[in-house]
Amino acid sequence: MAISITGTRPTGTPHLGNYLGMYRPALALAREHDALCFVADLHALIDVRDPEALRSHTRTIAAVWLAFGLDPERTVLYRQSDVPAICEVVWLLSCVTAKGELNRAHAYKAMVAANAQAGRDADAGVSAGLFGYPLLMAADILAMGAEIVPVGLDQRQHVEAAREIARAFNGAYGEVLRVPEAVVDERVMTVPGLDGRKMSKSYGNVIALMADTDELRRSVMRIVTDSRRPEEPKDPEGDTVFSLYRELAPADDVHAMRARYEAGGIGYAEAKEALFEALESVVRGPRQRYRELLADPGELERALEAGGAAARARADATLARMRAAVGL
Ligand code: TRP
Repeated sequence: MAISITGTRPTGTPHLGNYLGMYRPALALAREHDALCFVADLHALIDVRDPEALRSHTRTIAAVWLAFGLDPERTVLYRQSDVPAICEVVWLLSCVTAKGELNRAHAYKAMVAANAQAGRDADAGVSAGLFGYPLLMAADILAMGAEIVPVGLDQRQHVEAAREIARAFNGAYGEVLRVPEAVVDERVMTVPGLDGRKMSKSYGNVIALMADTDELRRSVMRIVTDSRRPEEPKDPEGDTVFSLYRELAPADDVHAMRARYEAGGIGYAEAKEALFEALESVVRGPRQRYRELLADPGELERALEAGGAAARARADATLARMRAAVGL
């Protein structure tokens, strides 16, 4: 059983794109691997300045994992900040990491480019934390000895950096760290939002995952479609309603829906209603569980504490080997 790891930054409430792109595939992997899932609260500190928001987003993410069926007896669920060894691992890694490796990170380069465009100092608004983001992420992965890291295309570079960093450490000190592999699911980037662009909080086109039934229906009804009339044949591939339906409905229903699109005879209003039903049946049970977990945070807290202890044991073991290797 390979060790897999998934981290989520607690920066807001999850949307359907997060579910299809990250939670669902990670939960599927967790059934066949030795999986770790964690809330990357240290990473979130780079932009979240409100302590109560950070705590509440952290609980939200943990509750979503549990509500969608993460089994805390099998899968280690923890808060990054409950594993202090990660920060020491960051330092040991930073001493073998080329600064140029961090200069090349997409998020940092994008900030520098935006600054250049606006005529500002190259590093305006760039914290040392943002610059060091790839080091913290490498420490998350390497401290746990993870072998596979399921990520969207946007995170692939970070896993590449973690590989480089592991090799640099091993090059200097011997085979101490396991070199992880990224597992990239191309579909992750293609979950469309209400306006057809990638579903993303920054585009304001998301369907909130844990919305109540009425809000969910309203969101689905706002999906932008073309103006084909019900009797006209439609292209399922280019349509947001069908693209989401395909991810959520049983295979037979998807097949039937595709046929009706191609033949004509289904209007977008009816297709949206079917999508809403499919979505509601996926989220109904988890939404109930999610609300229970947040109403009584005791159970959540106990799960996170148990996961934290298991995660600390793994990270401490890695750190001990790293310390011995470097001469501490
Ligand atoms: N950078 C990831 C994101 O923004 C979150 C993350 C932090 C992560 N550490 C990780 C993901 C370790 C996988 C493994 O989504």
